[in-house]
Amino acid sequence: MTQRAYVIDEMISAKSIAARVEALARDITGHFADTDKLVVVGLLRGSFVFIADLVRELDLPVEVDFLEASSYGDRLESSREVRIIKDLSGEIARRDVLVVEDIVDTGHTLLHVAQLLRARGPQRLEICALLDKPTRREVDVTATWTGFTIPDEFVVGYGIDYAQRDRNLPHIGKVRFV
Ligand code: IMP
Ligand code: MG
Repeated sequence: MTQRAYVIDEMISAKSIAARVEALARDITGHFADTDKLVVVGLLRGSFVFIADLVRELDLPVEVDFLEASSYGDRLESSREVRIIKDLSGEIARRDVLVVEDIVDTGHTLLHVAQLLRARGPQRLEICALLDKPTRREVDVTATWTGFTIPDEFVVGYGIDYAQRDRNLPHIGKVRFV
């Protein structure tokens, strides 16, 4: 696929992200203080950098698992039809679960994943999303913790891609077509 030319304008610095992740981890640690072993579920692929930083700041026993849901492909718009491409490796029945997502946009992905996981009978299920674009929401779903609320811009970096590019940027930037 040929890519339209674009530049990336920094929106959230690596330093701001690190400070926010630390604060989120403190809240999450407090919330799950009495857990045996928290299952942290990262939604692939966009959450891989965030989950790596977040779990290292959690002062809790944790297990890490991943789930991949279908996404944008190479487009800028959500398909609204969510399919599970890779399921969890472990069981979550009667466990404390934290779902870690990169961005809540229309909300379809998170709603679908939350319904799927709740049906498996976890003891507690909470959601932590790094970014939230509330003005784009089409279904009713809210993360328990949100890193940053952002305007309706297409963003990349810190694990988040545009057509599989730019996941390795240390900051979050907005895509501007030129
Ligand atoms: P939703 O189902 O519309 O909420 O879309 C959620 C998924 O779309 C996120 O997990 C991201 O993978 C992707 N997504 C949403 N907004 C952006 C963006 O600005 N940049 C890159 N991916 C995005
Ligand atoms: Mg995603």
